[in-house]
Amino acid sequence: MYEAFYGFREKPFSILPDPSFLYLGATHTMAYAMLEYGVRNRAGFTVITGEVGCGKTTLLRRLLEELGPELRVGLISNAQQDFGELLQWVLMAFGLDYRARSKVELFDTFQQFLIAEYAQGRRTILIIDEAQNLTPQTLEELRMLSNINADKDQLLQLILVGQPRLRGLLRRPDLLQLAQRVSADFHLKPLSLAETIQYVRHRLKVAGREEPLFTNEACALLHRVTRGVPRLINIIADTALVYGYAEEAPVIDRRLVYAVVKDKANQGSLQLSHLIKRKPKAAAPATADEGQGDWTARGQGAAPAAPGAGQAAERPDPLRPTASVVEFDKDAVRGPLLKRES
Ligand SMILES: Nc1ncnc2c1ncn2[C@@H]1O[C@H](COP(=O)(O)OP(=O)(O)O)[C@@H](O)[C@H]1O
Ligand SMILES: [Mg+2]
Repeated sequence: MYEAFYGFREKPFSILPDPSFLYLGATHTMAYAMLEYGVRNRAGFTVITGEVGCGKTTLLRRLLEELGPELRVGLISNAQQDFGELLQWVLMAFGLDYRARSKVELFDTFQQFLIAEYAQGRRTILIIDEAQNLTPQTLEELRMLSNINADKDQLLQLILVGQPRLRGLLRRPDLLQLAQRVSADFHLKPLSLAETIQYVRHRLKVAGREEPLFTNEACALLHRVTRGVPRLINIIADTALVYGYAEEAPVIDRRLVYAVVKDKANQGSLQLSHLIKRKPKAAAPATADEGQGDWTARGQGAAPAAPGAGQAAERPDPLRPTASVVEFDKDAVRGPLLKRES
């Protein structure tokens, strides 16, 4: 809808992990270099971690585009906890016949495949995204697969990508042997303020617009409220474009971004937990009072799960509705703008 008005060929802030939009700032450059290093140096295990929405899958997509025919790559893109038989998933990732047979037969099929690839001068790499969902047993099974060798060469390399919990898993004493085989690893950080400004410009440019559109103050507020997480930046920036288009604004300024953040926090449609003061339900007024003080709102979603209620402690999904009574914290978006970064 706003594309023609702002001169885009396509939407600049989609939340798909599209590598054609990849912006390589310092942290993403390092993470990508680590992936390449792992591949080139035949690392048994390469591990990349990062918070939800920081760009891990996008980097993987870029890597897949760049890998040459001397590599045979299998991807398990959404590892689940109730994974079932690992070997079946692995065979499927390489397009092999994985239908129910005994574990011995599955193993044999995979081993024959690795040997055949090796004989043809190809190396085999298995990439697992969302690897924080794997159980310790599955991780240990992966280590065993990575032990398959011919002469002195290991036949399978693994790349594990996941949320920070993966790092904790690899510190478990029973996974020590796996941890010792990790020769390339990196933690992807969110974008800095300067990177956020460049990131926004970069995406606008890829989408077809050369002229600046978001003011630096708008980017500074984007950075502040998202803490530099690209997926959150995209969601807010996309809506800011809709708001801008609605009032035919020639540039997206801080005021427009602020309006989006306020609305999203109030609707509870985006978990901007650091902008939200939780209130005890009884104490909250029934209606929003925008005239004075902070905004309040009743969200639709369920309250976050109680600690220890089945799920391991993890960063909540930023897209999940927030707790039932939330209050947008104006102070959290106030303060010196474009403050120098340390
Ligand atoms: N360095 C980057 N350059 C361009 N877009 C990025 C970058 N990092 C993240 N994104 C965008 O942010 C969104 C979330 O990225 P994604 O790769 O799915 O994150 P993760 O896998 O870490 O949860 C996607 O739209 C993605 O394109
Ligand atoms: Mg991902």
